[in-house]
Amino acid sequence: MNTPPPTHEWWKTAVVYQIYPRSFQDTTGSGTGDLNGITQRLGYLSDTLGVDAIWISPFYTSPMADFGYDVADYCDVDPTFGTLDDFDRLLAEAHRRRLKVIIDWVPNHTSDQHRWFVASRSALTDPKRDWYVWRGPKLDGSLPNNWQSMFGGPAWTLDETTGQYYLHSFLAEQPDLNWRNREVQAAMFDTLRFWLDRGVDGFRIDVAHFIMKNPDLTDNPLAPPPRGGADFRSFGGYDEWDHIHDKGHTDIHAVFRDLRRVLDEYQGDRFSIGEIHIFDWDEWASYYGDGDELHMPFNFSLVWAHWTAAAIRCRVEALQTAVPANGWPNYVLGNHDEQRLATRYGPQNAAAAAVLLLTLGGQPTIYYGDEIGLRETEVPPERAQDPWQFRVPGMSRDGCRTPMPWTATPGHGFSVPVAEPWLPFGGDAPRRNVENQLGDPSSMLNLYRQLLRIRGARSSLQTGSIEFIDDVPDGVLGFIRADGAERTVVLINFTDETRDTPVPDGSTLLFSTDQMRTEIQPGLIDLGPNEALAIDPGASA
Ligand code: NOJ
Repeated sequence: MNTPPPTHEWWKTAVVYQIYPRSFQDTTGSGTGDLNGITQRLGYLSDTLGVDAIWISPFYTSPMADFGYDVADYCDVDPTFGTLDDFDRLLAEAHRRRLKVIIDWVPNHTSDQHRWFVASRSALTDPKRDWYVWRGPKLDGSLPNNWQSMFGGPAWTLDETTGQYYLHSFLAEQPDLNWRNREVQAAMFDTLRFWLDRGVDGFRIDVAHFIMKNPDLTDNPLAPPPRGGADFRSFGGYDEWDHIHDKGHTDIHAVFRDLRRVLDEYQGDRFSIGEIHIFDWDEWASYYGDGDELHMPFNFSLVWAHWTAAAIRCRVEALQTAVPANGWPNYVLGNHDEQRLATRYGPQNAAAAAVLLLTLGGQPTIYYGDEIGLRETEVPPERAQDPWQFRVPGMSRDGCRTPMPWTATPGHGFSVPVAEPWLPFGGDAPRRNVENQLGDPSSMLNLYRQLLRIRGARSSLQTGSIEFIDDVPDGVLGFIRADGAERTVVLINFTDETRDTPVPDGSTLLFSTDQMRTEIQPGLIDLGPNEALAIDPGASA
């Protein structure tokens, strides 16, 4: 696949760690995490765990209708999380520790409390009216078109003051900006500059492909029947429609070229990764442009893949084909919108998933808590928080957003013992926490630490090519990463049974998820159920 240039940009080899700030570390006793909490834990991230960059989900001023993805001021910090000074300290301290900082940028919509929207809705003639997408009802009094909100129900809400509807692809509290308006583009790019001037290293761009819609607001057609055997996440009623008109219009590429020019005004390889859920690989890859748009669209293809060697190989090969020559791949297995990976793939597979994520290459992103194998937490209805589930039953994301358990003690080191955390801890927090796992050589946390150390020391794992091995038993995924003379062979058993698997003569073990395995016998090895390992094949492979 992609041959890295002799000196490559930091984001190509970086391992990114996603922090959901409400749930990482509370320093005020409010039960909600904050920026000072992140600063306090930077040593854990850089030294104990050993990641290279953090991505922080939104901490901007927000009424929190969607927990920060409804931004009321792009250039300030919500008091829940602290102050701008706190952010500056976080950034300085992260940089002192050589950690890059990526922040979330939410361009598709603002909060309905944002002063732009308050002005826009005030009158048909307001100068900001066109900053959002307004339409009158159809002649028969019905909605402007059939577009649906991802969070359930129509994507239009009537504003009584002016008798027009405004578009919201998510909650009614999240009106969509009109990116066809040049003033909106300029104002939003200025919000990027605000943070670039402060020194942030990059942006994760929320629902990046949503920002350009069909200018005629054409109705979406019904979705074609589900593709046989597809293993994608269901979005309920939203999936009944083929969303070809309410997002992803090709005019979007000019916007991202402009955005890239803004990033390139700055020194230091400022980086962009778009949250882009598109299943058509060519369309997905178009967001790389000619190397002049986003640095990467997020690759979600493994998140809901069946946990089988064949399915994973198929998706990795599809990715390799799709990523353009001047592009760079990335992998992610979980985030704040998805069920915890240890629950989704099955807890017995969580360690192998870690190996997969950190050895496939490209840029991996680890979701906070996955490094200790957090499971989806059962949140009782009376503690429910996610607005999505109140509109579409079953769509809760609360279970993957629960607080990080740092210790076994009351409050679990996340907050003071008396504070009620905004979401409950998982029932296993007294056992499954950072402190306990640091003391246990066979823990998930120590596996991640070991993997990150080995990845950092082996250029083949960071920038090497990848080639699949065909001579492996059914249910085993094998691949070779190579950079010049250095090679790393990775073998992952996706089954619950032992698989006798050939290894090259002269191989040495780099690590295994099976703590009992300390060396590699030449010939065939008995790869245990769900075991994953990496070997240095020496000169033989
Ligand atoms: C995607 C984000 O990841 C999700 O958490 C949010 O609710 C929607 N975009 C709307 O901003």
